[in-house]
Amino acid sequence: MSNIILIGFMGCGKSSIGRFMARNGYRLVDTDSVIEKDAGRTIKEIFADEGEEYFRRKETDILMELIQREEDNLVVAVGGGLPMHARNRALIHKLGVVVYLRAKVDTLAWRLRNDTVRPLLQTGNPRQKIAELMEKRSSTYEGTADVIIDTDGCSYEKVYSMICLLYTSPSPRD
Ligand code: S3P
Repeated sequence: MSNIILIGFMGCGKSSIGRFMARNGYRLVDTDSVIEKDAGRTIKEIFADEGEEYFRRKETDILMELIQREEDNLVVAVGGGLPMHARNRALIHKLGVVVYLRAKVDTLAWRLRNDTVRPLLQTGNPRQKIAELMEKRSSTYEGTADVIIDTDGCSYEKVYSMICLLYTSPSPRD
């Protein structure tokens, strides 16, 4: 399937790049938004009421549904924790080319400094939490990606143009 799947840590720009791409011919599927819309509640409320595992199962359900629908030309922005599950990694590879929008901890901490909506960051020291999670997750993001784009200091246009270059070179998994 010829879709683009954007992975990466919270605040790396997946949803924003996805929205930018949606203005350029792609259909955007943002897994967080789909879950919130279906549940009629925010992610923060879902985490508080049903717990993280319930949320993670919903993420998998969305991927399975997208694969069943066999749609093309999608840009799929997935939640930062989604690729941590092996079942999800297999599913996103079925969906299309997996692009990791990589950013440094300092960049992420700056972008997320006023965040009040992401349950995992509602701690006394969000920067430390970001560093801890990145330490655990970055090798999985890197190992899962077909393509890695370093986004520190890049505009959305620049990142988008780098993603467009994917189509002039064959995917490593072809
Ligand atoms: C999460 C990332 C969030 C959202 C949830 C959990 C994570 O999505 O799915 O708060 O575990 O990294 P974004 O990466 O879009 O912020």
